[in-house]
Amino acid sequence: MIIAPSFLTADFSKLEQEIKSITNSPWIHFDVMDGLFVPNKTYDHTIVLEVSSYSNQVFDVHLMVEEPEKVLEDYANAGADVITFHFEAVKTSVFEVISQLKRLDVRVGISLKPSTKIELLEPYLPYVDLVLVMSVEPGKGGQAFLPSAIEKIMWLNKKRSELHCQFLIEVDGGINVSTGKLVKDAGADVLVAGSFIFNRTDRFKAIEELEYV
Ligand code: DX5
Ligand code: ZN
Repeated sequence: MIIAPSFLTADFSKLEQEIKSITNSPWIHFDVMDGLFVPNKTYDHTIVLEVSSYSNQVFDVHLMVEEPEKVLEDYANAGADVITFHFEAVKTSVFEVISQLKRLDVRVGISLKPSTKIELLEPYLPYVDLVLVMSVEPGKGGQAFLPSAIEKIMWLNKKRSELHCQFLIEVDGGINVSTGKLVKDAGADVLVAGSFIFNRTDRFKAIEELEYV
């Protein structure tokens, strides 16, 4: 499994040290919240730029923002490798957002909230590199895993082979060893974990436990 630690619950007063505590994971998950699409506000592209000065991991940026089309370039220029936007947040055209991301030469991710029907993503599947299934209501870390995510992952896994698509299936929210195993068995490729990793002193070990679920 690919592990993407979400440092949402990290100590931002010593961010470089916190990021250095997860260097054994190939990816790092940035949770960007604007206080509009979700109630909380976290950080903007300047954090991506800061972290890029001391990390060469894959920057997996999760935009929980209204009208993501307005900020894509900021995150691409700051060093994002994967930019995931929310289907529900686009005010113009989802296809236009996808093409804009391709023009910016970043990998394209699309995500949806737990209450949004997965079938709505079908038209976009051949054009994206990653689908992020939210297994919690976006907006904060430390929530309990929503089992309804399993059915969505299984649907995506089936569609992926039916349509001969290559997208990765990423799952985000309430991931630990047991929920990680559940979603892996359903077809997931990437696990986002925040509290499971950052609540531990030995983060390397927490990441290894998830890699081998
Ligand atoms: C929630 C974020 C998730 C969350 C994961 O809006 O997208 O990445 O921080 O945190 P845990 O693993 O603690 O649920
Ligand atoms: Zn996230």
